[in-house]
Amino acid sequence: MNTTPPKIPMARLDRLLANLGYGSRREVGALVAKGQVLLDGAVVKDTGAKVPIVADLPDRMTIAGRPVDPPAPLTLIMHKPLGVVCSHREAGRSVYELLPARWRARMPALSSIGRLDKDTSGLLLITDDGPFLHRVISPRAHVAKRYVATLDRPLEGGEAALFAAGTLMLESETEPLAPAVLEPLGPNRARLTITEGRYHQVRRMFAAVGNHVTDLHRDRIGALDLPDDLQPGDWRILSPEEQAALFS
Ligand code: URA
Repeated sequence: MNTTPPKIPMARLDRLLANLGYGSRREVGALVAKGQVLLDGAVVKDTGAKVPIVADLPDRMTIAGRPVDPPAPLTLIMHKPLGVVCSHREAGRSVYELLPARWRARMPALSSIGRLDKDTSGLLLITDDGPFLHRVISPRAHVAKRYVATLDRPLEGGEAALFAAGTLMLESETEPLAPAVLEPLGPNRARLTITEGRYHQVRRMFAAVGNHVTDLHRDRIGALDLPDDLQPGDWRILSPEEQAALFS
């Protein structure tokens, strides 16, 4: 049996803090010179000191008296409110503006795992962990995403069978959609679980059956529910157990 403890990754302090958005390496050097960086209670005097990249670093390191930001890999769960966009490039207020300003300068950058439209609310994951992001969005992983849709017109009755058939072709696409599960919640409301993430998929699926989505909310990814205590605009760090729930 291999009993060697796993190697803890280390980074130079100035590089770590620059990557966490605390400023250029020169600016970080100034923080160090002013004695504002403490590790395990001791002032760090050398900007080139090696620092362990561990999840509990914020419990061990302070910058100007405040816990250092969590190092990568970092994954967040957010209750995306209506009216904000998920893309860095799209016009309008973005979900990244709901996070601490410094985090916009983090390297690697945070990005959402898939997107929700500006007019869709609900469970959004944001990460700087590329392999994890790809695992969640990979079509092979079949991670289910569950939405609650409010519809302009009453359901007609045949939608569930059509969505489940795996034959529905969306306009201007060449591959039919994978089977999806529709559960009516009322005449004009339904839960829809899909395993793909095509552009505006839920809205386009209902458009394909002559309906129109007036409200859309995502309440679950995999076995991970949007927590009841997470209000629109709120976010927190996703625990390793919650990360695992995505694939169960
Ligand atoms: N499908 C949509 O149409 N919009 C979303 O935001 C997500 C899925």
